[in-house]
Amino acid sequence: MGNNLIEFNARNSKVSEEKLRDLEDRLRPEVQNMREATEKGYNDPRASINLPGDEETLKQVKKLVKGKRRLNPEYLVVAGIGGSNLGTIAVQEAVLGKLYNQKNPDTKILYAETTDSEHIGDILDIIESSLERGETVLLNGVSKSGGTTETISNFEIIAEKISEYKNKPEEYITVTSQKDSPFHKLAEEKNYSTLEIPEKIGGRYSVFSAVGLYPLGILGVDLDELLEGAKQARERCLNKDVLENPAARSAASIYLNQKQGRDIHDFFLYGKDLEMIGKWYRQLTGESLGKEQNREGKKVNAGITPIASVGSTDLHSMYQLYMGGPDDKLHTFVYTEENDRNIEVPENPEYSRLVEDIQGKPLNQIMDAIFEGVNNSLKNTARPFNVVKIRDRSEKSIGALLQFKMMEMMYLGYLMNVNPFNQPSVEDYKDETREILKESGRNG
Ligand code: PA5
Repeated sequence: MGNNLIEFNARNSKVSEEKLRDLEDRLRPEVQNMREATEKGYNDPRASINLPGDEETLKQVKKLVKGKRRLNPEYLVVAGIGGSNLGTIAVQEAVLGKLYNQKNPDTKILYAETTDSEHIGDILDIIESSLERGETVLLNGVSKSGGTTETISNFEIIAEKISEYKNKPEEYITVTSQKDSPFHKLAEEKNYSTLEIPEKIGGRYSVFSAVGLYPLGILGVDLDELLEGAKQARERCLNKDVLENPAARSAASIYLNQKQGRDIHDFFLYGKDLEMIGKWYRQLTGESLGKEQNREGKKVNAGITPIASVGSTDLHSMYQLYMGGPDDKLHTFVYTEENDRNIEVPENPEYSRLVEDIQGKPLNQIMDAIFEGVNNSLKNTARPFNVVKIRDRSEKSIGALLQFKMMEMMYLGYLMNVNPFNQPSVEDYKDETREILKESGRNG
């Protein structure tokens, strides 16, 4: 893998070099548009590719993080949904681990996402005990529009709880929103700290904006490294040679597989802690490509159905379908090259009666065998797949992986002739919900 943080390999994607060369010509103008977007700051729909280089925002976020960490927070509650929290969860779990809260960190994190009263009730119980002990609970409300029903409901509930225990609740609360959104304005009136989301940055492309940087910074994630990884991936994904450009190359293989009837893209991540990257990518694909109309306004009902799998867990639940079911899927496997931990199965001979050849071997070696075994069995049945190898689970590698995938999605939107930056159907449901709530009285 050399000096690269990620390595993309589409050798088994069942796409001919000839077809790829055709697409190279088609993609060339968009590669050029992308390159030009790097000079346009936040004035282009592709503007999220400039987030990793935004020194001003990084400085502002770091300053705020420093100030809030001085309060020794026991908990940080992030109230946000969709693009306003999925990237944060994805990075947090990949870098710090799914079991992060149980590892007794300085600051634990809770996500107030949907309006599930049982779950929000648990969050309230947890933070109330902490507040009763006189500890600090921070709240970060994240909503680009500032008008998402779930986020504002949860934010209000948690802000109220903090106000019950703290004389100056504003010291603990930060709002991340688009400038001049109603949420941003209210935050200013209440003297909450505020961070901005640039207008052209859609939620699912916002992980490297203050949306992701502030909460991740509070947890001690190395923001410089995260952004450095994203910058390195960006350079590679701006390469005019499509075959050397991992994002364009990956987009081409997904697109050409769809043309062969494979409407389902399975993002199959080896590693429990990578699971939420799968959920993040599901949103990225679902909202970017699932469109009623193409760019010319013609009804096309386009889309690729994203699914997310975890290796090796889902080999025991979904693999039967993947191998034996319809040939309507392309799989992209994500595999980590180097793991920090080296845990070995003990050398107990009596266990070799249960499973042979694992005694004394590192778990990493067992996982390598499973990974190779799956690849071989897919090759045997001629099912297509791509492989993304990431160097490790460091901030840098994870930053690179996410940047690569966001740019891949922009190239895919271009190939499919849909706008990958809007989400009209999501806005529809939000409007409908607000209407219903307007008509309903108190307590339903
Ligand atoms: O990607 C998107 O644009 C959406 O999924 C939004 O992130 C989500 O609906 C939340 O919107 P907002 O940040 O405005 O609260």
